[in-house]
Amino acid sequence: MMVNKEFNLVLLGPPGAGKGTQAGYLTKAYHLLHVSTGDMLREAVKEGTETGIEAEKYMNSGELVPDSVVTRIMVERMAKPDAAGGVIFDGYPRTVPQAKSLDDALIKEERSLNVVLYFETTEKVAIERLSGRRVCGKCNKNYHVTNMPPTKDGICDVCGGELIQREDDKPETVKNRLTVYKERTKDLIEYYMKKGLLREVNGDLPAKQLFDDIDALFRQEGLINDGDNGQ
Ligand code: AP5
Repeated sequence: MMVNKEFNLVLLGPPGAGKGTQAGYLTKAYHLLHVSTGDMLREAVKEGTETGIEAEKYMNSGELVPDSVVTRIMVERMAKPDAAGGVIFDGYPRTVPQAKSLDDALIKEERSLNVVLYFETTEKVAIERLSGRRVCGKCNKNYHVTNMPPTKDGICDVCGGELIQREDDKPETVKNRLTVYKERTKDLIEYYMKKGLLREVNGDLPAKQLFDDIDALFRQEGLINDGDNGQ
């Protein structure tokens, strides 16, 4: 189903843009590996590792975890055998130094980024999505109380786990996350624009409609061929 085994893409956009949700669609359709620094950091917090203890205070206040910490976990992740094919980078990079580290890591393996999808999303939509997001405490599947509700209230459809609200989805933290995104990501958008990799998509669209737009864009750019959409 996958055409280009070296297909590497970055999902860039504000908190609540739907990056993780689209990563789910893209993984299913093109059999790429989904790597989310947010998920990896939350896992480290859950496990109480040194990285998790260091990261937690930044995450809970809506600040970015230092580049050195994030780059270390990403380099470790990239060294695993399953990362040898195409990768969807979700929420990474978030700063220009992180983008340069990713370029270096890919160059070492004679790979490169094919495209950076920039989710242009209004703040109102992002806030509404984050305040209604619920995640499974067991398998991490994402839901939304009105947009994507589970079949049974508060219970995960996949594993029966309890749905909880992410600590950083509380209103005060959401506000800071959006401010931090605006301040820290401006330069990154310009960085990828200059490289000719940035493609803007409308993050406000309903999830399936947005996926169809992304799929059409990939076909238009020759990144995938007819018959590759596993949806
Ligand atoms: P991270 O986990 O990456 O969070 P984020 O970027 O803030 O993004 P979110 O996961 O909140 O949103 P999303 O865009 O994935 O939206 P989702 O699909 O879930 O990072 C968390 C923290 O970790 C950071 O604040 C930072 O501290 C640290 N961190 C992570 N990476 C880092 C890095 N590289 N450097 C430094 N620090 C880092 O959707 C949201 C909700 O909306 C869901 O409920 C979903 O069901 C619903 N929804 C999604 N799409 C749609 C749609 N199209 N229509 C309607 N509803 C939708």
